[in-house]
Amino acid sequence: MYSILTLNKIAACGTDKFGADYACGTDIENPTAIMVRSASMHDMTLSDSTIAIARAGAGTNNIPVDKCAENGVVVFNTPGANANAVKELVICGLLLASRKVASAYDWCKGLKGKGDEVGKLVEKGKSQFAGPEISGKTLGIIGLGAIGYKVAVAASSLGMKIVGYDPYLSEKIRAALPEGTEVVEDINDIFVKSDYITIHVPFTESTKNTVNKDTLALCKDGVRILNFARGGLVNDADMLDALESGKAAAYVTDFPSDEIIGADGVIAIPHLGASTPESEDNCAMMAADELIAYIEKGEIVNSVNMPRLELDPVKGTRVCVIHKAEAVDAVHAAIGADVKYASRGAYGYTVTDSDADISKLEAIDGVIKVRVIK
Ligand code: MLT
Repeated sequence: MYSILTLNKIAACGTDKFGADYACGTDIENPTAIMVRSASMHDMTLSDSTIAIARAGAGTNNIPVDKCAENGVVVFNTPGANANAVKELVICGLLLASRKVASAYDWCKGLKGKGDEVGKLVEKGKSQFAGPEISGKTLGIIGLGAIGYKVAVAASSLGMKIVGYDPYLSEKIRAALPEGTEVVEDINDIFVKSDYITIHVPFTESTKNTVNKDTLALCKDGVRILNFARGGLVNDADMLDALESGKAAAYVTDFPSDEIIGADGVIAIPHLGASTPESEDNCAMMAADELIAYIEKGEIVNSVNMPRLELDPVKGTRVCVIHKAEAVDAVHAAIGADVKYASRGAYGYTVTDSDADISKLEAIDGVIKVRVIK
């Protein structure tokens, strides 16, 4: 019997995937695995029974990913499962950044009760809300993964010229980018060339404050910035200065902070990028599939801290070993049979469909976790 602890509300079409061999709920003790959306796990003590965590979503900054790797806990996410939902809101954000719809909407509310005057007041007041069209403008996209790519395609179909930057750009996405897309090697070119900039990268120490006073200084006057990825990617204080000086015309963010809420030029949305029923279903189903494949056959697909290793169903006994990459020779020698192996950074993952000597494997320096699946 396996058990799955859910830390947030997970769509039923995901949890329903766990069959009769599983218990699944919010009050499970010593779970085999955990499903989470945005609940912070940084202060949580994991049970020794927990072998995996699946994040139903893309960002994993709510999970202590490195600490999990050190303890042999595989962390999965669901890349692409919510990409369409985020893309749609980014397109909405581009238009909100341009056409002053948000402040016009508020202004219209103030006309309530003006009776027959409303029509005249609308025509008199509307000029303050004029804003440019996006067609013909340049959109800079930082991060051309699942979301950035979809944004490129949609914005291009609305007549925008696309300039993209992604040091990890896959050949598949490069080949599929809309005709005319310019891929730049230097992120600063995005800031220099774009009328609108949208960022779609994970939040890490190296991406923190990607939009800051120096990069904003490179921008065209009146640049419009969109952030539907993570709050810390944009330095809020520098963004406010840019809005105040006119360097930036608008900042649309899905990550409001107390500092920026209500400031002129800021359009703040409460982290709604992936909040669609479709995306919640997709993420929950993908996360459940990943956990089931890992629990039942040791397969690792879409992990953010362990190597990818696709595997056939188990016939007989399978031994799965998470170890330091440097222990690979000792692990393989101890198994002495056919192995499947993949590595990622400091970690290696070895799987054998043979009766390996578990205690011998566990005694090897650098072996983190040994699991037997029958
Ligand atoms: C993500 O990281 O998947 C999105 O920001 C949405 C979410 O946090 O659920």
